[in-house]
Amino acid sequence: MARFILQTLLAIAVATSALPTDNSTNFVGPENGNLVIVGGGSLDDSILQKVIDLAGGNDSSIVVIPTAQGDPSYDQNAANADDFRRLGSKSVTVLHTYDPEVANTEEFVQPLVNATGVWFGGGRQWRLVDAYAGTLTEQKIRAVLDAGGVIGGSSAGASIQGDFLARGDTKSNSLIIGDHQQGFAYVKNVAIDQHVLVRNRHFDMLNVLKYKPGILGIAINENTAVHVSQNTAEVFGASYAIIYDGTYWSRDGDDANQIPDPSGLFYFLRQGDIYDLGLRKVVHAS
Ligand SMILES: *[C@@H]1O[C@H](CO)[C@@H](O)[C@H](O)[C@H]1NC(C)=O
Ligand SMILES: *[C@@H]1O[C@H](CO)[C@@H](O)[C@H](O)[C@H]1NC(C)=O
Ligand SMILES: *[C@@H]1O[C@H](CO)[C@@H](O)[C@H](O)[C@H]1NC(C)=O
Repeated sequence: MARFILQTLLAIAVATSALPTDNSTNFVGPENGNLVIVGGGSLDDSILQKVIDLAGGNDSSIVVIPTAQGDPSYDQNAANADDFRRLGSKSVTVLHTYDPEVANTEEFVQPLVNATGVWFGGGRQWRLVDAYAGTLTEQKIRAVLDAGGVIGGSSAGASIQGDFLARGDTKSNSLIIGDHQQGFAYVKNVAIDQHVLVRNRHFDMLNVLKYKPGILGIAINENTAVHVSQNTAEVFGASYAIIYDGTYWSRDGDDANQIPDPSGLFYFLRQGDIYDLGLRKVVHAS
């Protein structure tokens, strides 16, 4: 009897493992490479260090894109480029244009060819869309990720990594649903907000969920990051990330707190907590 059960289990195991797995389209985050999505503010070195480490260390090439800031021009220290160098990065290049025709040229994208890291600085995320969406630059940035590199960014540089572009309005950053709604979608079907607690933005994402049912909202506070790889999203840094998935979770157990109706639900994760973007569940609490 025991042997029969064992044989049956083995047969099931073999049959299951023989099922074709097409992982390529299944991940919410990138199949290859890593994202470091940062909620803005002054950043501890540990956050930028993580980007350097994931890019492959001091000898790797990092391209810094300050375009969201909206300055007339930038020097080679813009948007944390000087911090990456101070931490030991030997090849850091600031890359910028507001002109999509320029962004569409082979000449402009040269610094991205050998880069294993890309960093988007803060500002207004729609500027990144206007300059780079649909251009060769957007393709080459994506290629860095596909080749196993890292894309990081803070504030606007966080939101742009989402699929629905939160706070993409050209008139005001107080509108969470604006006139630019498509981000670079390194995480699919996700909207990303930033500065969330410092600016008391924690109710705003609920409007995005109403507007785009089924979307997953992630709102990150300052000096805090979410590291995404495939379906794994791990929080690190000084503060919290808020998850809006229509459910509720608590470190003390799901029924430990008074909670509002489903349209008003969100919950907080801290350093070391891991959320599965595919299952839409907390899979590790630190
Ligand atoms: C898909 O993922 C499974 C489990 O992680 C792995 O064993 C398998 O090799 C992957 N398949 C492809 C085609 O990458
Ligand atoms: C990278 O450079 C920094 C700053 O010079 C240095 O402290 C660190 O040890 C270097 N890392 C490695 C792995 O060599
Ligand atoms: C990229 O790296 C290769 C091999 O090291 C080198 O030959 C090439 O010149 C580099 N290209 C750029 C644009 O830096």
